[in-house]
Amino acid sequence: MCGIVGYVGPRDATPIILNGLKRLEYRGYDSAGVAVLNGGRIEVRRDAGKLSQLVDLISKSPIEGAPGIGHTRWATHGAPSARNAHPHVGNSGRMVVVHNGIVENFLELKDELSAEGVTFNSDTDTETIVHLAEHHQAAGVNLEEAARRTFNQIEGANVVVLLSAAEPDKIVTARIGNAGGVVIGLGEGENFIASDIPAILEHTRKVIFLESRQMAIVTCNNVRIETLDGKVVRPEVHTIAWDAVAAEKGEFRHFMQKEIHEQVRALTDTLAGRVDFNTGRIRLPELNLTPELAKRIQRIYITACGTAAYAGMVGKYLIEKIARIPVEVVIGSEFRYSDPIIDSNTVVLAISQSGETADTLAAMEEGRSKGAMVWSIVNAIGSQAMRVADGYISMQSGPEIGVASTKAFTAPLVDQYMLAILLADLRGVIDDPTRRALVADLRLVPDLAGRVLERDAEVEKVAHVLKDIRDCLYLGRGINMPIAYEGALKLKEISYIHAEGYPAGEMKHGPIALIDEVMPVLCIAPKDPWHEKMISQIQQAKARGGTVIAVATEGDALIKEMADHVLWVPEAPWMLSPVITVIPLQLLAYHIAAIRGLDVDQPRNLAKSVTVE
Ligand code: AGP
Repeated sequence: MCGIVGYVGPRDATPIILNGLKRLEYRGYDSAGVAVLNGGRIEVRRDAGKLSQLVDLISKSPIEGAPGIGHTRWATHGAPSARNAHPHVGNSGRMVVVHNGIVENFLELKDELSAEGVTFNSDTDTETIVHLAEHHQAAGVNLEEAARRTFNQIEGANVVVLLSAAEPDKIVTARIGNAGGVVIGLGEGENFIASDIPAILEHTRKVIFLESRQMAIVTCNNVRIETLDGKVVRPEVHTIAWDAVAAEKGEFRHFMQKEIHEQVRALTDTLAGRVDFNTGRIRLPELNLTPELAKRIQRIYITACGTAAYAGMVGKYLIEKIARIPVEVVIGSEFRYSDPIIDSNTVVLAISQSGETADTLAAMEEGRSKGAMVWSIVNAIGSQAMRVADGYISMQSGPEIGVASTKAFTAPLVDQYMLAILLADLRGVIDDPTRRALVADLRLVPDLAGRVLERDAEVEKVAHVLKDIRDCLYLGRGINMPIAYEGALKLKEISYIHAEGYPAGEMKHGPIALIDEVMPVLCIAPKDPWHEKMISQIQQAKARGGTVIAVATEGDALIKEMADHVLWVPEAPWMLSPVITVIPLQLLAYHIAAIRGLDVDQPRNLAKSVTVE
């Protein structure tokens, strides 16, 4: 997804914007550019490729001045090229725009503007925005009004930032729908705009999040927010707790590696303030859950995409087992086309690390439109999925920069476990001793995760054995069946090896035909209620000459005997075992991709947050 940085203030905007865009590189992009105002002129530098190429270009042909705006683009309309890179300047050369999202009516706007003699210099939908704004400004209105009219004319989910040489003291930005966030950073005598917090964290921790259909007029000493129909908004100012280091790699080679290893802290943080180990009770205040509401719930839909959906599949086991509420998991991109059966006693629970995934947000909207209670489990503070929900659980995992989600997978497993206990408690379907025992098990989780991470070097050894494989089957059963899907996805998305997660019990109905000496089989077989079934699964794979890598509980002599390689995990309460069994699979995928020399944090074709459908 594209990155945006803007600056208004006394300093040279160019280095501030370039450093900010660097903090957003993880979002995936294929071109980049900067525009600044200098002596009444708009100066632009932009190029296809990585940010480093833009930095080289600017070092050879410097620009300086303020205010300024910058952009990293993930091509939607128009190939990744210098001519299609943002920023885009209008025909007058007096106005410039950067943009995230898709202007769904850009063709008709382009026709209208072309008929008025406007010249288009790119293949992008973005260019229509600046020409439209110039058209309105030429009619005699100021930048703010020209921008407002433009924002009300463009259709689709978009984030727009406009800068005009005619009004050099301000930048105007707007958020329309779910094309990613807009963060306004509040400095001293200077202000910032960005599509995500890491871009401005080194300058300020005080931020405002724009809601959909809101615009901001930003000068160096003032930020005014209005709705697109002109109503003034009194924004909430948030203070971001995590520090700039959290958005840095530390001693790790990759963000993903760091985030795998910081799961001990992330799991501790997601428990923080929510578990009372003395009373054995759970508190999730942002959910706004009352006993009456909890008793009313007759069905829960969990909706999410990719890794988050697999977390939801584990949540189904937890909520049905502990709270005895029927749960159905429907992936976001299918939910609204499945005509779900929803009424006011239905909960739609969305899980999303970014809180900006278009398919997941659309599914939430579908639930809302049919009268459901809409909840979310989200990591990104202030994201759309957090703000449109009736209640939410924050993962509290800190920024997840690596495109492949790791700590934002294990945190929602624990969050759903806590939710299940809370629901059971409020509905009166769990007695005190049982509840206390389930809550007590939570205390074990961070330490168990730490013990798995201590075996990182053992996993790396197995990664060297598997580094050249071309296919791999991941098999799991029961509550660890979703871990097979998640483990396979981790391998696919960062090492580009074809991997398939499959319910182990289904193998005999066809896929077992795949198993031979060149098809490794990864069996997730901890000491859980399905352990015996997985033992026979390993026997079936071995009998066909398959190479078996098993995730097994420390001390399991039988698996040690049978499997070719074992990724050991400590014994864990079975309902929390997925939090533990997934970690060696995260490490395995990471090491294989690193050994293969691939771009672990920004895998090809992927973006950290998929804000397009
Ligand atoms: C996970 O490793 C992938 N990057 C992807 O499947 C991701 O989980 C999915 O796009 C959902 O993202 P979200 O959690 O931000 O909604």
